[in-house]
Amino acid sequence: MYTKAEIISLLEDDKQNDELFSLADKIRKEYVGDEVHLRGLIEFSNICKNQCMYCGLQCTNKVVERYRIEPEQVIEIAKTASGMGYKTIVLQSGEDVYFTQDIMCHIIKEIKSLGVALTLSIGERSFEDYKAFKDAGADRYLIRIETTDKNLYKKLHPHMDFENRLRCLKDLKGLGYEVGTGCLVGLPGQSISSLADDILFFKEIDADMIGIGPFIPHPQTPLKNSAASDFTLALKVMALVRIMLKNINIPATTAMETLNSNGRIIALQSGANVVMPNVTSTQYRDKYEIYPGKICLNDAPEKCRICIENKIKSIGRTISTDFGFRKK
Ligand code: 5AD
Ligand code: FES
Repeated sequence: MYTKAEIISLLEDDKQNDELFSLADKIRKEYVGDEVHLRGLIEFSNICKNQCMYCGLQCTNKVVERYRIEPEQVIEIAKTASGMGYKTIVLQSGEDVYFTQDIMCHIIKEIKSLGVALTLSIGERSFEDYKAFKDAGADRYLIRIETTDKNLYKKLHPHMDFENRLRCLKDLKGLGYEVGTGCLVGLPGQSISSLADDILFFKEIDADMIGIGPFIPHPQTPLKNSAASDFTLALKVMALVRIMLKNINIPATTAMETLNSNGRIIALQSGANVVMPNVTSTQYRDKYEIYPGKICLNDAPEKCRICIENKIKSIGRTISTDFGFRKK
């Protein structure tokens, strides 16, 4: 287990990168094996009340065409994904107030009746909402802390509160969800020391899943002129998370593939064991533009499934047929 000083020195020094990536790969193999879990991601609404400075879906972006997939169609998309073999469905959206507790519970119950695991990624909600979603059958929840640097958090999230984000993570853990969080790497003003704090924070809260994504500037945001993250730095943070948290689930994030055309496979060989292919109908994909250059914008769900399966098999890994809960 690394100390904060050791994490900082590993992040700053590129001479030990190869050792770091192969150690993360070894620990991944030992603790979670060669199986890769595929999660079918449905991006069901790009409407959001928040104003995260880095995100292309933030409410002040007047250029993006907004959409909301109606509940019955979300359920239909989940059915198709389940039919394609997905054992986990992930429902992701902006913070769209249309999806009330009742509407979400209806969607959750219908999707759970398909016999899949269900992950929600719909942002900050009340304890009562989280409880109702859990009672309706939701298994997991993703909500990245984005950064544990409180000053940076404040600058990047006008009208939001770091303490409330922590409250969400605590509520979700207490309710028995598998909890996923994570951070952005390469944000303007983010220090290496704060990235080390992020990793130690994930360890401290005993997160079940960690998604690490490189920051990619979006032209319709205040950060449009900032530099994109370094791919290798994001990969190193992810590898350190594997080394520190051992048996958790770590996705090879789509944003990694935007910065490097083989990004997801490289991530799978540096600690990751999950991929989240997009199963949203092609007509909506280009509108869910959190960052520019998202992959597979014109691809149908079937194509992505076959494409990623082949890539995974080509590196000697297998596709899991179970639900892929955290290995205890
Ligand atoms: N670049 C990369 N990732 C981003 N996210 C939001 N905006 C960007 C961006 N510009 C990530 C956030 C959020 C997740 C859904 O997308 O970390 O939690
Ligand atoms: Fe979509 Fe490869 S994952 S085409």
